[in-house]
Amino acid sequence: MRRRVALCLVLFAFAGLHAAAVEAVTLSTSSRWIVDDEAGGRRVKLACVNWPSHLEPVVTEGLGMQPVDAISKKVASLGFNCVRLTYPIALATNASLSSLTVRRSLLAHGLAGAVAGVEANNPGLLDLTLIESFRAVVDSLGESGVMVILDNHVSRPGWCCADDDGNGFFGDRHFDPDAWVRGLGAMAALFAGVPNVVGMSLRNELRGPRQNADDWYRYMQMGAEAVHAANPAALVIMGGLGYDTDLSFLAARPVDVSFAAAERGKLVFELHWYSFADARAWESEDANEVCGRVARGVARRGGFLLDAGFPLFLSEFGADTRGGSRKDDRYLPCAAAVAAELDLDWALWALQGSYALSTWRLVSGSTMHVAVNATTTTTPSRDGGGGLLCLDVGDDGRSVVTNPCRCLDDAAAGECDPETQWFKLVTSTRSPATGAAAAATVARGLIAA
Ligand SMILES: *[C@@H]1O[C@H](CO)[C@@H](O)[C@H](O)[C@H]1NC(C)=O
Ligand SMILES: *[C@@H]1O[C@H](CO)[C@@H](O)[C@H](O)[C@H]1NC(C)=O
Repeated sequence: MRRRVALCLVLFAFAGLHAAAVEAVTLSTSSRWIVDDEAGGRRVKLACVNWPSHLEPVVTEGLGMQPVDAISKKVASLGFNCVRLTYPIALATNASLSSLTVRRSLLAHGLAGAVAGVEANNPGLLDLTLIESFRAVVDSLGESGVMVILDNHVSRPGWCCADDDGNGFFGDRHFDPDAWVRGLGAMAALFAGVPNVVGMSLRNELRGPRQNADDWYRYMQMGAEAVHAANPAALVIMGGLGYDTDLSFLAARPVDVSFAAAERGKLVFELHWYSFADARAWESEDANEVCGRVARGVARRGGFLLDAGFPLFLSEFGADTRGGSRKDDRYLPCAAAVAAELDLDWALWALQGSYALSTWRLVSGSTMHVAVNATTTTTPSRDGGGGLLCLDVGDDGRSVVTNPCRCLDDAAAGECDPETQWFKLVTSTRSPATGAAAAATVARGLIAA
């Protein structure tokens, strides 16, 4: 418990003071620092939280739960000065999608409950189109003084990320590079005059069998120029390969874009760092060794860019902080210390507590394993269970948590005890009669049987 408190202090210490109301912030780079042009080049440290809008309904998560202005105020009051707001490129390239209303899109995904939630909490958004609603979220954040980075998370709306989901790399089934460049340009143009939009993340977590550095330069430079042409004020943020874990190829060949050499540059790189990339090591090896080794890997694959004169944005990190995950308990203090030492700009994953669309299903012969496919950027579980998380009983023996599903693998089934992951939804029970009456009832029942 004490450790967790100490950790919070570290995180908020590097959040720094959060900004007051954002009025047309223009950020640029000055060597490895992000600076505010209007404030005479004063350093601005991004202390962001991710907020997803890229899932199937393309409705920003949580709008069915709380009024958008309350969420924006909460973001600011927690000490974040910015949100990395995700979107699918289809929002910019597919007019029949972006012109759907929030109501129709939610209903198309069977989310009548979410419609009722939006009606109660954000009635003004329900009949806006998806792009208008997205814009309303950006504006609401602006009113609370929160900067926004627009992050193209996927092409087609949906969960991110898997190697083979067709959204991973240029040329994949759902990832047409030309449409993507067009979409980035359109999105940049649409938000060019919006005062709190300070940057555009070109693409989240490039990955998969097609990924290669040559195509990375070719298309990322095109995407970057399209964004810069449409909105020269915005920071242009580039992630690397391998799910945004690897920018090492830049050591040999710098990015060639028209705006990198300016006195005040716009080019920023982003990196992701989660425990699952080194799950086995965090769980089973000497934590001192693992922290040192993993941190050196992060320096080699991204940290070196600071010395090369570019800001590095740790745009996704995060952990299960409930205290039941050994790998996360070890990784998070290590990552937080590295981020503090390198004085990184950062964005926590994530703001939402749940997703409007998550499909729970029963996954074993017991019909009591209740699972959800959690193959997302936060929990691409490589701990078995094939990306499935199951309801489980927490360490306190009373709370309900999710853990990787156990005992689904036939080979080990005889040796494996799944009981803590067995759940039945019981909607009603009949109160028992007491004492003798109960005994008599049981006896009658037995006789009748
Ligand atoms: C555009 O969006 C609509 C509505 O979601 C969808 O039915 C259609 O398939 C999308 N078109 C393309 C080319 O993806
Ligand atoms: C979970 O979803 C991912 C991505 O859609 C898919 O590749 C994977 O096969 C799914 N896993 C299971 C067990 O359904």
